[in-house]
Amino acid sequence: MGIKRICNPGVMYTRRIPAALLFIFCCMIFSVYVTYFNHGPPEDIMARNRQQQHGAESDNEDKGLHVAKRDELNAVENEEGGDDEKIKDEDNPDFVESKKLWENFIKSNDYVSIGDLYSGCDEGDRVLVGKSIMLPDKENGGIKARIFLNFTFEEEYMGGEFVLEVKYNNKELYDNHWDMCILDENQPDRLIFCPYEANAQWSWVKDKKIPSYLPKGRYETKAYVTNQDDKRILCGYSLFIL
Ligand SMILES: *[C@@H]1O[C@H](CO)[C@@H](O)[C@H](O)[C@H]1NC(C)=O
Repeated sequence: MGIKRICNPGVMYTRRIPAALLFIFCCMIFSVYVTYFNHGPPEDIMARNRQQQHGAESDNEDKGLHVAKRDELNAVENEEGGDDEKIKDEDNPDFVESKKLWENFIKSNDYVSIGDLYSGCDEGDRVLVGKSIMLPDKENGGIKARIFLNFTFEEEYMGGEFVLEVKYNNKELYDNHWDMCILDENQPDRLIFCPYEANAQWSWVKDKKIPSYLPKGRYETKAYVTNQDDKRILCGYSLFIL
């Protein structure tokens, strides 16, 4: 109806210009939405991420994309430390064991994995303690991430920081840090209650909505948790494509 009015010569010239502009403006918004924001149905998003998960596996033998990404990040960290003798996670039998366990878990449930969680950020000295996966969000539409974590505190935990760094299409997009002990204090399904004794266990399943207003593209996330001595006791990497 709007278009007919615009094209109707009976409409005053002075009103026609703004109406035409408005129409063009609407078309622009719509094409921006389709180009940058419309992720398509959840099944398509899932398929894209499943494909990239498998593509990464076969491209790089046993090394998933997350592992490759992790190597990249570690390379930077190692350079800073000036340590050129690089110990790989795969050289650590405990790591290999933990990796097998979690990969079986992903495979047997046919999940779409989008990330890994480790008991630290130093390669060669950690095990896999969790996974993040992508799921359709049945309640709200779109998609969500689910984090599985089985983690044991080696030492007493008095508190520290949660640090988050997000890259969008390989560019720094966002970083922030929070007090770990009050990270989720206002959430109904609160999971974190500091302090923790040595050998205390976390066994979590936590869902997080992936907002539908995020533009299309490649999202890489690094997150870590420090303790009272500034040591990184948990480290996670995730990668997904919208
Ligand atoms: C994680 O912990 C839960 C509960 O203790 C257990 O059922 C599950 O098998 C564990 N998963 C892995 C991959 O270790």
